[in-house]
Amino acid sequence: RTELNTTILYSYKPKCDNGGLIDRVYNTYKLMHTHQTLDFVKKKHCEWSGCGHAQMKMMEAVMSLDKLVDESDPDVDFPNSYHAFQTAEGIRKEHPDKDWFHLVGLIHDIGKNVALWGEPQWAVVGDTFPVGCRFQDSIVFRDSTFVDNPDDKNPAYNSECGIYKPNCGLSTVLMSWGHDEYLYRVMKFNKCTIPEEGLYMIRFHSFYPWHSHGDYMHLCDDSDLRFLPWVREFNKFDLYTKTAELPDVENLKPYYQSLIDKYCPGVLNW
Ligand SMILES: [Fe+2]
Ligand SMILES: [Fe+2]
Repeated sequence: RTELNTTILYSYKPKCDNGGLIDRVYNTYKLMHTHQTLDFVKKKHCEWSGCGHAQMKMMEAVMSLDKLVDESDPDVDFPNSYHAFQTAEGIRKEHPDKDWFHLVGLIHDIGKNVALWGEPQWAVVGDTFPVGCRFQDSIVFRDSTFVDNPDDKNPAYNSECGIYKPNCGLSTVLMSWGHDEYLYRVMKFNKCTIPEEGLYMIRFHSFYPWHSHGDYMHLCDDSDLRFLPWVREFNKFDLYTKTAELPDVENLKPYYQSLIDKYCPGVLNW
């Protein structure tokens, strides 16, 4: 996501705009907001949490992103791995002492690889939101895309807190299923040693209704509030490092390989 497409997303009105690209973005969200229910998310947790789908090294996973076109993102004019290296290099410039943060920048989107293994894009990409409680107004296309989601009409799930207790903490909340939660699970499963704040950025970087719009604070506990500035710091680089100047990937690879060897070495289970 970039600053530009954030503006487009929030001002888009279905059927008024005829740009083909933004229609594709809208349709991806329409499918997501129709099918991401509490039951669906529970099913996806069972399906993916065992990390039995593939075995791959981290750098292979970064480079295989190039085969993917993210249908929730209007910026598709250069390979996805460039976004990985640009985000990482942006972080490295401003936080030279935090090598784990550079690595988080590099890998944050590689959970999108599941789209290459047959997962529909609406269960992989785009902004995330909690399921099992009311879909808040700050979710993109909120007004027009949830009408066919059965949870929206279920009184057990559509109150302010739904199935959760106030201030239960986001770690106990089920988020719409996508590349954030999936990669977090993969990192935990493989016992990667990136510090907790880094894993937290991976897990919630697409939760725009929370980190950029201030919604869902009633579900947060103290540790969420402590981690929020980290997620926002990460988001700066995720949004604003997409430039026309492309990184010299081959030149950068040895440095990032050394971080992979330090924090998540060898063949990983996906
Ligand atoms: Fe992402
Ligand atoms: Fe990203």
